[in-house]
Amino acid sequence: MLQKIDKIFEDIKSFETQRLLLIPTTKDDFEFFRTMFTNKNIMEFSRLSHKKSVVDLKTDFERILSLKERKFLFVWKVILKENNKLIGRINIGSIVRKSSRLDLGFVLLPEFWSIGIMSEAVNEIIKYLFNDINIHKITATTNNKNIRSKKLLEKFGFNLEGILKEHTYYAKQNRYIDEASYGLLKKT
Ligand SMILES: CC(C)(COP(=O)(O)OP(=O)(O)OC[C@H]1O[C@@H](n2cnc3c(N)ncnc32)[C@H](O)[C@@H]1OP(=O)(O)O)[C@@H](O)C(=O)NCCC(=O)NCCS
Repeated sequence: MLQKIDKIFEDIKSFETQRLLLIPTTKDDFEFFRTMFTNKNIMEFSRLSHKKSVVDLKTDFERILSLKERKFLFVWKVILKENNKLIGRINIGSIVRKSSRLDLGFVLLPEFWSIGIMSEAVNEIIKYLFNDINIHKITATTNNKNIRSKKLLEKFGFNLEGILKEHTYYAKQNRYIDEASYGLLKKT
């Protein structure tokens, strides 16, 4: 039987908000993917280095496309309506069908930070996931020092469920980093 969660992949949706278009990403978006993942500011709180080679980035991008094919990840690109500029992405992944649970992620070019752009995108995707897809729980995990990301999650009512001590190895710092684990339940 087709799970409700599969609707995300079968009945593909784009969204329009006041300032933004959220459009499913495609294999043609590699250059933008590369721009984001080689940006030092964006990657500051990531376990990944911003200095990856094009070959490695291509491999990562292929992996994302393959996860989408296998229905474990879906990425929308964030486009600013006023000039049609691609400025970020919002994605869902780590899908656990039997528990109707998935993980939310987001990235925006730094020149667009702190003006409520990602709040606008997150608001739209959360509404879709709870109302149309009937997701039971949305999770998000972030570097515990990533204040912007934590504030954004808390603004939408995500609960801090725990600090995962030295949870992930950050090769670029040669140490294990604490991560904050957040969850948001569908209101019944
Ligand atoms: C995290 C990120 C997506 C936030 O996007 P954004 O569009 O700047 O977020 P918003 O402007 O919608 O702000 C959301 C909330 O974050 C907080 N915030 C925004 N700017 C902030 C700042 N400079 N300092 C601290 N908190 C801030 C505020 O609480 C804000 O809520 P408010 O608008 O009600 O005040 C963006 O900073 C980013 O792409 N960072 C790099 C990638 C990343 O770390 N992704 C998350 C990985 S888990």
